[in-house]
Amino acid sequence: APTGPLQGRKVVVTAGGTREPLDPVRYLTNRSSGKMGFAVAKAAQRAGADVTLIAANPTLEAPEGIHLVKVQTAAELLEAVQREFSDADVLVMAAAVADYRPAEVVDHKIKKTADNQTMSLKLVRNPDIIQTLAPTKRANQLMIGFAAETNDLIKNAKKKIQSKKLDLIVANDVSQTSIGFNSDNNQVTFLFGDGRQVKTPVESKQKVADQLIEIVAEEFKS
Ligand code: PMT
Repeated sequence: APTGPLQGRKVVVTAGGTREPLDPVRYLTNRSSGKMGFAVAKAAQRAGADVTLIAANPTLEAPEGIHLVKVQTAAELLEAVQREFSDADVLVMAAAVADYRPAEVVDHKIKKTADNQTMSLKLVRNPDIIQTLAPTKRANQLMIGFAAETNDLIKNAKKKIQSKKLDLIVANDVSQTSIGFNSDNNQVTFLFGDGRQVKTPVESKQKVADQLIEIVAEEFKS
């Protein structure tokens, strides 16, 4: 049986980038590889937690013992998180969720025409998963988000911790290819609800994940 500071706790982690279909052969997506979320899931498992990993379009293998739920779109991700969150102790939203999806999904391959040199896509807003779940959150549940920013990292992350009513946000500069999307390393700033900030050095995503899970374990000690 697992031992560790999160023994008996259920941790739900989301990872990867959602794909929003346009027609049977095309979709809109982002550069998330899922590495960060998978590392968080692994760290939580090592800390003894019962881990459910909801992965959008994973390319990585989930470690044995982790419950893997595969999804494609933001709508499917929302549905899966809603199913898993009610009896969870912790939710970590590392997934890169599309803010918009094509307004309609065409059932055949969209063709180019001789006279159309440009084309417009109409997009509609996707629901915000964290904001949808926030009203159902119990006092003893922890909700942790990531903030992927190319500019004004701390300022934008602070806005997100407030608007999304998060306990903690992991501010992630994604303006450089050596950290952030698809890299093996990362550098983040943990932003706490009380304004405290802890900046990590550039280190492996696993190390960043281990630190995050240490913070989570600390929360459950008190
Ligand atoms: O997967 P990797 O290649 O390893 O890259 C890791 C990462 C850069 C994707 C990861 O570290 C990261 O920053 N994930 C969050 C990406 C993101 O979508 O950030 P955001 O700032 O757009 O969203 C803020 C938070 O709201 C996130 O926790 C996100 O999961 C959540 N969100 C966003 C949109 C939406 N519709 N619903 C949400 O719940």
